[in-house]
Amino acid sequence: MSKDLKNPPIDRIDGRLKVTGGANYFADFNLPGMAYCVLVGSEIGRGTITSLDTKKAQGAPGVLGVFTHQNMPPIPGWNAPVGGEADGPPPRPREEQYRILSSPKIFFDGQPIAIVVADTFERATYAASLVKATYNKQTARTDLQKHVAEGIAPKGAEGGNYSRGKADAYQTAPVTLEANYIIPIEVHNPMELHGILAHWTGDKQLMIYAKTQGVNATQNAMAQAFKIDPKNIHVHTEFMGGGFGMGLRTWPQETAVVAIAKKIGRPLKLVVNRSQMFTLVGHRPYTVQTIQMGADKDGKLVSIAHAATAETARYEDFTEATVNMTKFMYACPNVSTRYRLVRLDRSVPIWMRGPGEATGAFALESAMDEMAHKLNLDPIEFRLRNYSETDPEHNRPYSSKHLREAYQRGADAIGWTNRKAQPLSQREGDWQIGYGMSTGVFSAFRWEASARALLKADGSLTVQSAVTDIGPGTGTALTMIAHNVLGVPINRIKVEYGDTSLPKAPTQGGSAIISAVGSAVFDACTAIKQALVELASKDGGPLAGRQAEELTLTDGVLSVEKEPAKKVAVNELMRTNNLTVIDKTKDSKGGPEQAKYSMYSFSVHFVQVRVNPLTGVVRVTKAVSVADSGRIVSPKTAASQMIGGVAGGIGMALTEEALIDHRFGRFVNNNLADYHVAVNADVPAIETITIDKPDPIINPMGAKGMGEIALIGFAAAVANAVFNATGQRVRDLPITPDKVM
Ligand code: MOS
Repeated sequence: MSKDLKNPPIDRIDGRLKVTGGANYFADFNLPGMAYCVLVGSEIGRGTITSLDTKKAQGAPGVLGVFTHQNMPPIPGWNAPVGGEADGPPPRPREEQYRILSSPKIFFDGQPIAIVVADTFERATYAASLVKATYNKQTARTDLQKHVAEGIAPKGAEGGNYSRGKADAYQTAPVTLEANYIIPIEVHNPMELHGILAHWTGDKQLMIYAKTQGVNATQNAMAQAFKIDPKNIHVHTEFMGGGFGMGLRTWPQETAVVAIAKKIGRPLKLVVNRSQMFTLVGHRPYTVQTIQMGADKDGKLVSIAHAATAETARYEDFTEATVNMTKFMYACPNVSTRYRLVRLDRSVPIWMRGPGEATGAFALESAMDEMAHKLNLDPIEFRLRNYSETDPEHNRPYSSKHLREAYQRGADAIGWTNRKAQPLSQREGDWQIGYGMSTGVFSAFRWEASARALLKADGSLTVQSAVTDIGPGTGTALTMIAHNVLGVPINRIKVEYGDTSLPKAPTQGGSAIISAVGSAVFDACTAIKQALVELASKDGGPLAGRQAEELTLTDGVLSVEKEPAKKVAVNELMRTNNLTVIDKTKDSKGGPEQAKYSMYSFSVHFVQVRVNPLTGVVRVTKAVSVADSGRIVSPKTAASQMIGGVAGGIGMALTEEALIDHRFGRFVNNNLADYHVAVNADVPAIETITIDKPDPIINPMGAKGMGEIALIGFAAAVANAVFNATGQRVRDLPITPDKVM
C-alpha cells in the first residue's frame, strides 16, 4: 500500500464477527414452526411436462405439501415482471414468459418443476427424490456457436449499436487485425448458497431474510408480486457470503417460496444446492466477439470495430455493456460497435463481476496486444500513443483520469523492463516466462441514497443505511467516511446496515455504493457538524462569532483551526444545550455538475506467467493491479477488493468454464470440484497499488468505485503474458493446457 495514503488502513469492522461465527447470514436465521423447501428440477432442456407423479412424495414422512404447476398458489402480481428490476424484460407473449410453476412448459434444464415442503430439510430432500415426471421432449438449443447468425438487436440502453467516423476505415488502414474472442459461461458461485427465509407475520405483513444485494429492491419486487405496500415488507440481509452479481435481482424461486409460505401458514426456508447455483441464479453469458482493428505505421489507431453476440434465455433478454469500453477507451477516429443476443434454451444470465466490460475488455485488450506486436511496439507505448485525454464517445472531459501514472507505477512494480518483446525468449528450467498487461475501465456512478447519523452526548456515533454489504467492506468504508467528517474515533462509530427499517439505499452493485451511500453518510455527518458549529458559534456560545469554515472537529473537540486554544468539547456543548443526541438524515444524489463529465474508474493489470511447454500448465507467478479510482476511503478493504479481483481474474483466465453437453442441454461440471475457481495454490502474492487522487467531480469524498475494475481486463493480461511466454495466442477462455501445448 502506498505510504502517502490520506486515510489510515483500518481493520474490517465486521471481521471478528465473520471469523468467529458471530455474523448471521440469511440461512442462519431460524424461526419457530419453520419448514423447509427443496426444488425438483426438470430433466429436459426443452419441451413440456406430460405427467407429474407427486403421490409418493406427498405421503412421505414430514411432508407438508408438494407444489407444481397444477396446484401452485396464485401470485397476484404474476403478470408484472417478476424480476424486480426497473429495466426488466421486454414483454413477450404470455406463453413465452417463464413464471415458475405456472405452466408445464420447460425453458431450460434444471427449471423447477416442483417445490417440496417438509418439516425438516432432510425429509424435504428425500420427498423431492420421489417426484416423477414424464415429458414431451424437444431438442434443446444451447450451443451459441451454432446459432450466432440468429443474433437479434435487443431493446434497451445497453444495446451497443454505435458508430463514429467512417465505417469502412478498417479496410484501408496500413496495418490491420481481425480476430474472434470467446468467453465461456462463467458462474458466480459465491461460497454462500442462494435462498430465502419467508415469514408472513400477517395477511399483508411479510418478513424476509434473503440473499440479496439490495434489501430495498427485494422489498419492492415482493410488494409488486404480492400487491402489498412495501412498508409492510421487512427485508434483512446484513451479511452476505459473496454476491458477484447473482443477488442483483429477485429470482422466481424466491417469489414462489413466499407464495407457498402464505399458503402453508408457516415460515419457509429455501437454500438451493450447489448444482442449482449454476442454473437458477444467473451466470456470465457465453459471448463471441469479433474485433477488427486498423492502425497506421506510427501506431496510431485508425479504426476499431467491435461486434459481440451473447446468449440469453428464450423467455427473457439479458443485456450488458460488453462493447462499451471500445467506444471511448482509445483516441480513435473511426469506431463502430454492435451487440446481439441469441435466445437459447438456457436459464437467463445476470451481471457478473465487471459485467459486460470484463467480457469486452478481454477482446479489446487482447487485440491491443496483438496489434502492438504487429507494429513492433511495446504494448504500453501503443496504448499511450492512443491515450484518450477526453472522452471521444461523448465529447466531454473525464471527471478524473490518471491512467498514465497507473501504467507507470504498475510497470515499475512488475519489472516491465525485464520483458522481452519477442515471444519465447525467456526460459527458466522447464518454464517459459512471459509478461503481459491490460487496461480495465468501468463507469463511476453517483446514485441516489439516504443515510442517518446520530451523535450522542457520550461522543459515540451511529450511522444507518439499508445497504447490504456483499463482502467488500462497505461498513468499514462508511465508518472511515464518518470518522473523516466528524473526527469521532473509529471505535466509537457503529454502522448499522442491511435492513429495510434503515434509510433507503440502492442495491449494492456497479461499484457504486461508496459513491452513493458514502455521500449520504458524508452529508448526514456534515449536517451534524454544522449543528455543532451553530451551537458553538451562536451568541454566548464558547466560540461566538466564528464562521463554520474556521472550525475543525477532531477527537470530540471543536476548535478554531488557527487558534487551537479556542476550543470546546462536543459532549460539553451538547450538555450545556440539553441535547442527548443530534440526529440527521440526508438524501444525496448527483446533479447537473456530474452530468457534464464522463466518470470512470480505471485499472491496469500486470502479470508474469510461467508456462510449461511439456504439460501446457500456465502459472501466474506475479500479479500487480493498479487502481485509479479516486480517493481511497478505506485502504485495507480496497486492497482486499483488488486482491479478490485478481483471484477471480486468474480463475477467469485459466480455469473457469461451465460446460454444457449440448446433446442434453445440461451442465456437466456443475459442482466446485469440476468448475475450478482459483484457490490459494493458483494465486501468487499480489501487489495492489492505488493512485489515490480524489476525483473533484463525483462526490464529496472524491471516491470512485473499484469492485469491477479489480477484475476487468485481468484475463487479457494473462492471455497477453501467455503469448509473450509461448508465442501462442489464445483467444478463447479459459487458457487450458491443451490450448498452449
Ligand atoms: Mo456487481 S456484477 O454489480 O454485483
